[in-house]
Amino acid sequence: NAMSPVTVPRVLVARQVFPEVVARLRLHFDVCSNDDDDAWSRAQLIERLQGCAGAFITTGERIDAALLDACPDLRAVCTLAVGYNNIDVAACTARGVLVSNAPDVLTETTADLGFALMMAAARRMSEAERSLRRGEWTRWSVDQFCGQDVFGATLGILGMGRIGQAIARRGALGFGMKVVYHNRSRLPDDQEAPLGARWVSKLELLREADHLVLVLPYSPASHHAIGAAELAEMKPTATLTNIARGGIVDDAALAVALRQGVIAAAGLDVYENEPALHPALLELPNVVLLPHIGSASRPTRLAMANLAADNLIAALTGGAPPTVLNP
Ligand code: DGY
Repeated sequence: NAMSPVTVPRVLVARQVFPEVVARLRLHFDVCSNDDDDAWSRAQLIERLQGCAGAFITTGERIDAALLDACPDLRAVCTLAVGYNNIDVAACTARGVLVSNAPDVLTETTADLGFALMMAAARRMSEAERSLRRGEWTRWSVDQFCGQDVFGATLGILGMGRIGQAIARRGALGFGMKVVYHNRSRLPDDQEAPLGARWVSKLELLREADHLVLVLPYSPASHHAIGAAELAEMKPTATLTNIARGGIVDDAALAVALRQGVIAAAGLDVYENEPALHPALLELPNVVLLPHIGSASRPTRLAMANLAADNLIAALTGGAPPTVLNP
């Protein structure tokens, strides 16, 4: 009776990742990787997942019941992002597929970008730079590019998870801001107190914030959490910053509000149909537009990729994956 051959699990790395991380995976797996970083269609993704036990993915790959049914060998799906609205966790769980994300390692880097984007919107930095580059700076003027103050203003945070709290710390401890937030659950007193953070209703948050930052996960429940009606409750001097997910903001309604002066300015890192942008946003001076770079520092992206690899290796070699999402 023949000995069964030792089989090395096959895994797909769906986007280009750091070579050192792919090298780690190759120590354990037969790796097929998208080294050219091509944008695969869904059909190509499914085709390349055939025979794969593991998938190393990012925010762009949609993992749903239909894909799982078409890829019956799949046992682990590991994303290098913290956000996982592209993955149907319940469908994975029902089929015994482990799912992991990559929280914590990107918290401070993403909070830095969120704060920077909020400041850039408040102080009209992109607008001023574009004017300078067009050769329009002929003299210093008292009232040129006057924006809104950040120091001492009221910072509003919608979604008070890890990144929301990291932004609150920056505002409260570094910029003397008053912090109000809305979240499903209130923080314990000992976490609110050092930040002077106050839980308020969503309506109070909209009305009180000088600078509102969105840091909540996307789900059907948060779809268009900020639309025309919500924007109308905000101060005309307020700014809105979205570093969470497109779809939380109604981009068309935001463009109208920015054009009509319903709010003063916005900072966006994410969009409803990214990488496509609502064309009206591109025409507006008072919105700072970034291409989803919240976690994009090299050390952080490397840490995210390594955490996804840790999860995948543990999931398929009998270890304990560190950041599992299945209940
Ligand atoms: C995430 O981690 O969810 C970001 O959107 C990508 O870094």
